[in-house]
Amino acid sequence: MGKFSMRHLLVVSVALNVSLLLRVAFETGTEGLDGVALLKQVVGGGVLAELHAYRQTHKATSSSSSSPSTATLVNYTEDRVINLDHGDPTMYTRYWQQAGDKSTIVIPGWQSVSYFSDIGNLCWFLEPEFAKQVLRLHQIVGNAVTRDRHIVVGTGSTQLFQAVLYALCPQDAIEPISVVSAAPYYSSYPAITDCVKSNLYKWAGDARSFSKGGPYIELVTSPNNPDGYSRQAVVNRTGGLLVHDLAYYWPQYTPITSPADHDIMLFTISKSIGHAGMRIGWAVVKDPEIAKKMVKYIELSTIGVSKDSQVRAAKVLEVVSDSYECTKSVEETLFDFSYRKMNERWTPLREAVEQSGLFSLPEFSPDFCKFSGRLFKPQPVMHLHTCMVRCAAFAWLKCEEPIEDCEAFLREHKILTRSGRHFGVSPEYVRISMLDRDENIDLFIERLSKIGLEQPI
Ligand SMILES: Cc1ncc(COP(=O)(O)O)c(C=O)c1O
Repeated sequence: MGKFSMRHLLVVSVALNVSLLLRVAFETGTEGLDGVALLKQVVGGGVLAELHAYRQTHKATSSSSSSPSTATLVNYTEDRVINLDHGDPTMYTRYWQQAGDKSTIVIPGWQSVSYFSDIGNLCWFLEPEFAKQVLRLHQIVGNAVTRDRHIVVGTGSTQLFQAVLYALCPQDAIEPISVVSAAPYYSSYPAITDCVKSNLYKWAGDARSFSKGGPYIELVTSPNNPDGYSRQAVVNRTGGLLVHDLAYYWPQYTPITSPADHDIMLFTISKSIGHAGMRIGWAVVKDPEIAKKMVKYIELSTIGVSKDSQVRAAKVLEVVSDSYECTKSVEETLFDFSYRKMNERWTPLREAVEQSGLFSLPEFSPDFCKFSGRLFKPQPVMHLHTCMVRCAAFAWLKCEEPIEDCEAFLREHKILTRSGRHFGVSPEYVRISMLDRDENIDLFIERLSKIGLEQPI
């Protein structure tokens, strides 16, 4: 009787959670930041937590047959809602677990009392050790020119994006400057740009159809979120100011063909090495006047950036760089790990999509990656000048006819994705995170391959 009621409770509770989750998905429509689908996350986590709690309680209380029946677990797997809507880089947790204590730091209670980090630096709240490790990693990977540039640290590259808008717009402009990006663009750009209805700047949509004269800011995301393609500016008119968002210009996602050399480049810890929760990003800026204005914005909005986070970020970056420069290390390096993982996910996903006849994915031609990987290891995963196929952080999936609303279609199969609408294109497309935990990605690919078999074509 006790056993029955526990199971019964679990089923009812899971069902309630799933229906609540689906309601949330239906009712929220758009959401703000890319990494934040908090409510969905909390509810989704609740279901998992409940299964875990059930297993624990069941283990502790039952006598002979101590595990839930296979049928319960099969049903649970089939019913499970897979949330791949947001780009939470939880895939990296395993790497950092394997790295163990190397990335552990102790911060004494007296540390970080002052607001200031480096009073002589243009960016006075930049921790010198963090700056050092940023420059070191760019040097090793070869993905950005950093000589004679200024590093500005931000609370994620999300804050830096806002700081850039503030810095690029003259305070005395008669009307707000148009901010554009070629569709499909990163879904957070419109919302962040317009969130405070600034008089300085205004979201103006797809750069390809932008025809207004005068100054403008074009956001160039390369490789692009959501579709993974490399990009260049598309408007190319006088008066244009470019911001290069290079969150994904790292060797696990795309071949590093040359060091990026642009006036304003944004990077983030979230997507480079997976620590989204530290909320650390950095900008590499050529013009000191622009850098100063960005610093001013951060000073006004948050009086700097958490020193503790910068110190932690410096440590994890150091661990990554050490693993490339220390020839004795036998452990898998971060970019080897993440490239391998991405490859292991993209290969079966492409197979499932090909077999289904219902979907399609972007095709990428292989390119030469100049990032050397570990030169001294007997078998580096990424060799110098190796031809490499890109493994984008998101799958930009297109539902073929007659499916018109891909997000709604996949939601019926309990797969939560982000509709093309949020990226300025049609609902035939969805963006699916490829950075989630193994179990979610595996289940997603398995479910997708079954949809192809089930659906009458
Ligand atoms: C293109 C792009 N830029 C910026 C960000 C935000 O990064 P952060 O976590 O540093 O704020 C994301 C996160 O998904 C992104 O995809």
